[in-house]
Amino acid sequence: MYLGLDIGTSSVKGLLQSEDGEIVASHSVALAISRPLEGYSEQNPQDWINATDTIMSSLKDKAGHHLSQLLGIGLSGQMHGLVALDKADKILRPAILWNDARCERQARMLDTEYPEFRKIGGNAVMAGFTAPKAVWMSHYEAELFNRIKTILLPKDYVRFWLTGEKLSDMSDASGTLWLDVEKRKYSEQLLGYCGLDISQMPGLREGSQPAGTLRKKLAEKWGITAPVVVSGAGDNAASACGLGVVCPGDAFLSLGTSGVIFSVTDKFLPSAENGVHAFCHAFLDVWHQMGVVLSATDSLNWLSEITGHSVASLATAASTIQDKHSSLMFHPYLSGERTPLNDANARAGFIGLARSHTHAEMAYAVLEGVSYAMAECADVLAKTGQGPSSLLAVGGGSKNHQWLQLMADTTGLTIHLPMEGEFGGALGAARLGAIASGASLTDILTKPNIKHIFHPRIDYCGFHNEKRNRWRATYNAIKSV
Ligand code: XUL
Repeated sequence: MYLGLDIGTSSVKGLLQSEDGEIVASHSVALAISRPLEGYSEQNPQDWINATDTIMSSLKDKAGHHLSQLLGIGLSGQMHGLVALDKADKILRPAILWNDARCERQARMLDTEYPEFRKIGGNAVMAGFTAPKAVWMSHYEAELFNRIKTILLPKDYVRFWLTGEKLSDMSDASGTLWLDVEKRKYSEQLLGYCGLDISQMPGLREGSQPAGTLRKKLAEKWGITAPVVVSGAGDNAASACGLGVVCPGDAFLSLGTSGVIFSVTDKFLPSAENGVHAFCHAFLDVWHQMGVVLSATDSLNWLSEITGHSVASLATAASTIQDKHSSLMFHPYLSGERTPLNDANARAGFIGLARSHTHAEMAYAVLEGVSYAMAECADVLAKTGQGPSSLLAVGGGSKNHQWLQLMADTTGLTIHLPMEGEFGGALGAARLGAIASGASLTDILTKPNIKHIFHPRIDYCGFHNEKRNRWRATYNAIKSV
């Protein structure tokens, strides 16, 4: 029996999976985000522990006999968050999350003053990553910063509670920007630019390797008798494991709060100037590239909030609009943009609103604008990586077939929608738990059965290519003023 725990941004989810791949129980607990100032996004790390503890009690109630046979726990987690601990391992301040934009200035400073971040870290320094968050702390909370004994990522803080060990994995550590991503080890130089050193970092393992053993006290509390190994990866690498996206050329499209195109590479392929993320995968000698759009389903959620129409009714309204009859455009930069713009100050907008337009045209424009942003990511990955020819679609937005057709028509890639089921970080984490406790990679890392394939339609591709050129030109024109 294996357990996957996904420490997400909106919830923590736990899932128990048997040796033959059956999901026997799952439970999730919602999390709140605190936004004390515009652009801030924080959580209290203790909330992740409390949620995990609640999940374990629920799994014990629902499936105690299965839980008692647990062999491996895999962790998946929201990436980049900064958890700072003092010498007594006490949390120094709330965790600063991946979608917190406060350190834009520190990110720009690191990016321009230290070109080694792009060269060694493989990525442009973006406000979402961990390194500029630490520099922000050193500028604005110097007293707290000076007391930092250890910096952990969100899932690694939960691992610390589960195992008593301070460990991280290569995929998640890539997103700190303190890793030499090609050599898969910390860079003293990059740490030094942030006023930190290697003694403040957790030990490193591959995501699929054992990294800690469940503490006896917790095992007893949850009725577990055998020793349980703990492993895990950042949520995108973990999701890739859940989908069997592990060989070069394999790729997926995730339509969640943020939109991600994740493509596996057999070498380190940085392309910082295009805002591409070049990170380690969960396996030795495997890397991946990622294009990240910060507001994907979040753009539709925002439209729902301001119009009072539910997301479902917006989707129904959008389905009445024909692609070629819509001249309205939407730039989805509600929280800035990562790939390819790397512009935390970019902001969203509708262009071409007419008196006749209703929420239906606006909803369609949002679906189309997010698709264009994802197509920009697909283009830079094709230009700089091992260019996927198809994408497995996951995430809340993948339930919308009109959106997936738009994604196919705008990216020019075939989109494969899996049968209903569980494919997120929690499943990938359970699979990593299984591998770390000795199960065979090929048995575990299977791909899902496909329910529907969306092929790019040639005549629509031409229309959208032309409109996307105008959409990009409009953004550049706005930016220039
Ligand atoms: C990846 C990223 C997000 C978070 C969301 O770079 O910032 O996908 O991991 O959980």
